[in-house]
Amino acid sequence: MKLITGLIGREDLVEQIAREARKGRHLILTGPVGIGKSAVLEAVIDRLLLRQNRTVIHVGEQQAKGQFLEMARGLLESGLLKPSALELDEGLDAVDPAALEWVKLKRQVNRLSIRDLCAVIVPALHEQRGQVLIAVDDLTQVTPTLVAFWLAVCDAAQIIACASARKPNVAKLWWKLAEIEIPSLTPDSARAIAQSYLQQTGTLVESPPLFIAHLVQQANGNPQALADLLADASKERLVDKRKIREMRHAAGVRYLDFTPVMIVALASIVGARYLAMGTGDTELYIFAGMLAAVVISVRVFLFRGAGRAS
Ligand SMILES: Nc1ncnc2c1ncn2[C@@H]1O[C@H](COP(=O)(O)OP(=O)(O)O)[C@@H](O)[C@H]1O
Ligand SMILES: [Mg+2]
Repeated sequence: MKLITGLIGREDLVEQIAREARKGRHLILTGPVGIGKSAVLEAVIDRLLLRQNRTVIHVGEQQAKGQFLEMARGLLESGLLKPSALELDEGLDAVDPAALEWVKLKRQVNRLSIRDLCAVIVPALHEQRGQVLIAVDDLTQVTPTLVAFWLAVCDAAQIIACASARKPNVAKLWWKLAEIEIPSLTPDSARAIAQSYLQQTGTLVESPPLFIAHLVQQANGNPQALADLLADASKERLVDKRKIREMRHAAGVRYLDFTPVMIVALASIVGARYLAMGTGDTELYIFAGMLAAVVISVRVFLFRGAGRAS
């Protein structure tokens, strides 16, 4: 969507993150899926490159092996790593790095383990004295076994990463990264995005103010939700009022979680039943039975209600 509307409403945030990055800190941009972490990261990198001439390696893979392969590729293509160091043909060392064809080399480099790749990447990064910037989109999948490798990369280069959640047992890596939470879009920004998108795509809407208000409410500050809804709308010949009412996005629906209440209620009923049987209290026994009936019927109705809301 950013391609259509440009990055809207993130000016101050991008500047703030770029400022932190210029201090040489490792950063991790966090927030739910679709909140705009990748979009902001991209803008931050562009901003940094305007002022500083640094080598940036983009790591777009989600899986660990792919991420380390991409780092190797970045170093190879920027001439910071000799092909022979990756156990490639020594003859390639004389080839201009820009002329190396990664598609042909990848299979062979792929034979190296993450440990081997790390052992090559880290010294190459150290040689640049922390001048290399590694943009990792996304670090959510990092597991405890990988922490040591990433820590070694952290010591050798600057990292700016995104993550939508923190997996357990990766605290040692997280401590190294200053966390910056990407907030939801303000309603004003969401409105501006919707307006720009409708204009750019020429989507016909019966009542634009109603439509945009509805979009902003449903998307709940999440640009991906906004993008999904807008993409659906742009497929229509005309977005009329009935279609507007029908549009819903999960991001806009707030769910109430009754699970803890249900667990406590059921536990009390079971407890009361045993107490009644143990003490021979018939009234309590009957009461617990009735309560069970009530709880079960309430649950059925709640469940139906929730089904309708979504
Ligand atoms: N401020 C913004 N203005 C316009 N489009 C945006 C904005 N932030 C995100 N987007 C778009 O919303 C979608 C989701 O953003 P993305 O950065 O991929 O989220 P995340 O990485 O947090 O999952 C992308 O299509 C992106 O281009
Ligand atoms: Mg992303």
